[in-house]
Amino acid sequence: MPHLAVNDIHAKYGKLEVLHGIDFDVDRGEVVSLVGPSGSGKSTVLRALVGLTPVTSGSIEVDGTRIDYSAPRAVRAARDRMAIVFQQYNLFQNMNVLRNVTLAPTKVKGRNRKEVEAEGMELLKLVGMDHKAKAFPDELSGGQQQRVAIARALALRPEILLLDEVTSALDPELVNEVLDAIRRLASEGMTMLIVSHEMSFVREVSSKVVFMDNGQVVEAGDPSAIFDGPKSDRARDFFGKVLRG
Ligand SMILES: Nc1ncnc2c1ncn2[C@@H]1O[C@H](COP(=O)(O)OP(=O)(O)OP(=O)(O)O)[C@@H](O)[C@H]1O
Ligand SMILES: [Mg+2]
Repeated sequence: MPHLAVNDIHAKYGKLEVLHGIDFDVDRGEVVSLVGPSGSGKSTVLRALVGLTPVTSGSIEVDGTRIDYSAPRAVRAARDRMAIVFQQYNLFQNMNVLRNVTLAPTKVKGRNRKEVEAEGMELLKLVGMDHKAKAFPDELSGGQQQRVAIARALALRPEILLLDEVTSALDPELVNEVLDAIRRLASEGMTMLIVSHEMSFVREVSSKVVFMDNGQVVEAGDPSAIFDGPKSDRARDFFGKVLRG
């Protein structure tokens, strides 16, 4: 049974349908990447998974159980199981790094602060930010802040991590430190669904690549099949442009 199954989901913004039936699975411990042109619906898929954009038909299953997004309690449970990190990391500016990481587990989940802090330090170590635990966000580079944002998402102990272009707001020299943190998570067996324009990274870290265009999955498969031998004209055209040079 897949860890996450996305079955023929449709989604709308107002009257405009932007997802026209998306299907893919993510197995436990697998890293799946969504790629495709701007506006193809990648972020909408991630938003739908955490109930930020309503799904009008189709289903999303975690461990074989369908999530009922009409029930607030089920949406909360889905958000406990899947954490999303956006391009804009939005750390709490008035709190130090460790407090950013421990706030939700202590305040929202009511967990023991000492225990959460110990775990928070481990997560900061995982993303290479433990040395800045006492620093404030405005004392950090963009890449460092993004790594803290990833640790913050992990502090809620999600089973599946959703990453939406977490490197695209960063200066090029800061991209690698964030990619390293994601690599480390992958090697620890974290199930991840990644949206990224970093094609060489996608190729290296993903077990499956889902190419989307215009609210549909055009083709999906292992990275070498998708990158080296795309079957559709649309994917050939897209990869021809993004992989050139
Ligand atoms: N809040 C919104 N209201 C209305 N339409 C939206 C909204 N957000 C996205 N859309 C539309 O939905 C479609 C899919 O957008 P989405 O953000 O999912 O694309 P994307 O693949 O993530 O693109 P990008 O690579 O630029 O981030 C686009 O046509 C977009 O214009
Ligand atoms: Mg997007």
